[in-house]
Amino acid sequence: MRMIDLIHKKKHNQELSEAEIKFFVENYTSGNIPDYQVSAFAMAIYFQGMSDQETTTLTQSMVDSGDTIDLSDIEGIVVDKHSTGGVGDKVSLIITPLIASLGIPVAKMSGRGLGHTGGTIDKLEAIDGFKIELTREEFTNNANEYKVALAGQSGNLVPADKKLYALRDVTDTVDSLPLIASSIMSKKIASGSDAIVLDVKVGSGAFMKTVEEATALAEIMTSIGNNLGRKTVAVLTNMNQPLGREIGNANEVREAVEVLSGKGEQDITEVSMVIASHMAVLGGAYSNEEEARKALDAKIASGEALEKFKQFVEIQGGNFDSIYEKQASHVVEVKAKEDGALVSVDSEQIGLAAMKLGAGRSTKEDEIDYSVGISMHHKIGARVTKNDTLFTLYMNDSSLQADVEETLHNSYRISETYEGEYEYVYKIIK
Ligand code: URA
Repeated sequence: MRMIDLIHKKKHNQELSEAEIKFFVENYTSGNIPDYQVSAFAMAIYFQGMSDQETTTLTQSMVDSGDTIDLSDIEGIVVDKHSTGGVGDKVSLIITPLIASLGIPVAKMSGRGLGHTGGTIDKLEAIDGFKIELTREEFTNNANEYKVALAGQSGNLVPADKKLYALRDVTDTVDSLPLIASSIMSKKIASGSDAIVLDVKVGSGAFMKTVEEATALAEIMTSIGNNLGRKTVAVLTNMNQPLGREIGNANEVREAVEVLSGKGEQDITEVSMVIASHMAVLGGAYSNEEEARKALDAKIASGEALEKFKQFVEIQGGNFDSIYEKQASHVVEVKAKEDGALVSVDSEQIGLAAMKLGAGRSTKEDEIDYSVGISMHHKIGARVTKNDTLFTLYMNDSSLQADVEETLHNSYRISETYEGEYEYVYKIIK
């Protein structure tokens, strides 16, 4: 078999066989196929797309390129959740203890943030002592005994994706739906859960800017998951403004605690509860989402969800109270320049502003400052008066103030009226 023949076939929109896709993944991972041929191949896929069968085979071959995690020694149906990345997205911090409080095991691998979106591991590391590296034994024991274990990605999971993603990044082929879908799903499948809920973000802070694009991606991902024996549901959620009020690491953990105490903002609460309801159904504990929702609401009202979060932090070595000690040295208010209704915000710009303050990384080597961040006081549709505080900045380097303030002022639009209706969840795809 020769790579040039595969490129030729894809260029002419012919379907690749299972053997051809496996040949490509195995030989690219082992270094037998050069980047220049794979660049051409990725571009051919970008223009011609892939069939359902091809995408599923590509995903399975990528899973087979490295280690896989065997969670079979965890009792019960293990349900995982993945977000395509958002701003202020602390849903994993909320649903992890929430699902565990129902007795459904959550054994989850999470990642770090890069660019304008945050990562669950960085947020948890805002808690002093929190250990994200667990031995295999600790991971299994915690999942069995406490129903909760969360660790950073370790081992050699999906090396084909690491190589291919880096190449896509420099050849402008990231935004190919079959390549995104197989990249995300291969990592989820290799992580070993039985069922997966995908939070596909849509809007100004997301990869997918429209519901149509997000629907197409969600359909491919759910199809891959279900074809490969993992029950998969996608929830399309609105990322046209940051989720909740807080952006930054320690302040997002504090906000997650508020949601688990029943005092969260409506948007982050609703999105978390919808995702958790689907996870609870996939976990086999409830026959429908309404029943699951009632049980989840009860866990919040009784305080058990919050207790589970505290237990989760403690068993992974963290000091819960330390999140209230992480405070930045400078607090600055950014005020509205005019009266009117807040009609739009650019989540990506707000995420970038938080990154500039040190809450995120622009390169993998950057160090995070856990205490910095942004609070957003008004959401789309709110009426504001000139000099109302729109944002509070928490910073440790006051020289950043002017630049960050300017970014934030450019991130929103105030107009006379707002007539839209801001939906939190657009649709569910199974
Ligand atoms: N996230 C991934 O993991 N892969 C992609 O291709 C895009 C987003």
